[in-house]
Amino acid sequence: MDSIRIRGGKPLSGKIRISGAKNAALPILCATLLSDGESLLRNVPALRDIDTTAALLRFLGRDVQAAAPLVRVGAGSDVRPEAPYELVKQMRASVMVLGPLLARFGRAKVSLPGGCQIGTRPVDQHLKGLEALGATIRLSRGYIVAECKRLRGAEVVFDLPTVTGTENLMMAAALAKGRTTLVNCAREPEVEELGRVLNKMGARVSGAGTDVIHIEGADELEPFDHAIISDRIEAGTYMVAAAAAGGDVLLENAPLEDLEAVAAKLRQAGVEVGREGDCVRVRRDAARPLRPVDVTTAPHPGFPTDMQAQFMVLMCLAQGTSRIVETIFENRFMHVPELSRMGAHIDVDGHTALVHGGAPLSGATVMATDLRASASLVIAGLVASEGETEVLRVYHLDRGYEFMERKLAQLGADTVRVEGRNG
Ligand code: EPU
Repeated sequence: MDSIRIRGGKPLSGKIRISGAKNAALPILCATLLSDGESLLRNVPALRDIDTTAALLRFLGRDVQAAAPLVRVGAGSDVRPEAPYELVKQMRASVMVLGPLLARFGRAKVSLPGGCQIGTRPVDQHLKGLEALGATIRLSRGYIVAECKRLRGAEVVFDLPTVTGTENLMMAAALAKGRTTLVNCAREPEVEELGRVLNKMGARVSGAGTDVIHIEGADELEPFDHAIISDRIEAGTYMVAAAAAGGDVLLENAPLEDLEAVAAKLRQAGVEVGREGDCVRVRRDAARPLRPVDVTTAPHPGFPTDMQAQFMVLMCLAQGTSRIVETIFENRFMHVPELSRMGAHIDVDGHTALVHGGAPLSGATVMATDLRASASLVIAGLVASEGETEVLRVYHLDRGYEFMERKLAQLGADTVRVEGRNG
């Protein structure tokens, strides 16, 4: 397994380009199952989660040619509407083939994703919604087995906003007979993006990006050609990296409008964030102290849970104590023990972390078990004033960050990938 080695203490400066959004590309790849013919996705990032989805689509019988940033998905041979455990366990988002397969082929067998490192993450809302559209669902030997004649439009009220749950239901409803209304939807930009693609395919979707979405289903859907939006979490991660390391960084194609909650917290902490042409500029003089800022994660447009770990590193540098509350996932503080090994002072009580900033971080060999936690450790390595940091198990990072060590090196950081390090 590869690792990333970081010699910290260097400010970041220069310009990098933000890649296409992983969490927008994944549902859109699943949406290709809704039609025959060849769909073309542009601006797709080269990531392990994209490879996993391509492998799943191939298993289902589609012809996939993936050469990021272009991915072509064609009709292929007969579709086998079955997503096996071996593929689903690698990536929970695989459960998003359930809605399209069921709507298109009248049946689907998809492995239950099971728990994951950041929490139990049930899929009850996906299943409840598909049942409301007329599916019969049973659980058998670790699989979701779903059947229907033709799905019928209905009203679905989610108990809580779920991103992939909303997306699964939007895709199913796009081929259902009649009108579906989804209430209490996730409002993430990736949901809005899927709405745009379903409209290109011939469904009539309105309200995506708000908490009520209406979908007028079609009898058949067309393939599409679509360029994926930029990755707001990748952009946010580099914004925090620049703030933490200090310096002056330009992020090309960063969707600042989708990152207002993060930008507001950065400004409160004393970081300059602004737009400059098609770039976002992040500037901080590393000699000037940062102010502690409290953060509570929330569904979009609130502060994203996917930015919590990275922001916590920034708060380790602030002069004073900040309180970070995680409300979305129950187990998303796994970076804390590793940050403590680097010298951070953080007390965790349930969903709340008190970060006592100001203690210098020093380099260490660290390891994380999820994607965003790994990114936070890389940022901690950038600011560690002494010693070298080695972040092990980089395959977590490779799930969601395209060439992270190269992009950071482009900004002047001393980051290298070490191939085949055990750990
Ligand atoms: N939930 C349920 N029942 C359901 C579905 C969700 O109780 O049927 C709960 C979850 O357990 C969680 C909350 O609802 O407590 C919100 O979870 P959500 O369903 O919105 O998460 P997700 O769709 O599984 C997506 C992203 C995650 C991101 C979350 C929250 C994708 C592919 N994944 O997951 O991204 O953290 O939304 O914004 O879009 C990442 O990229 O690192 C990542 C984990």
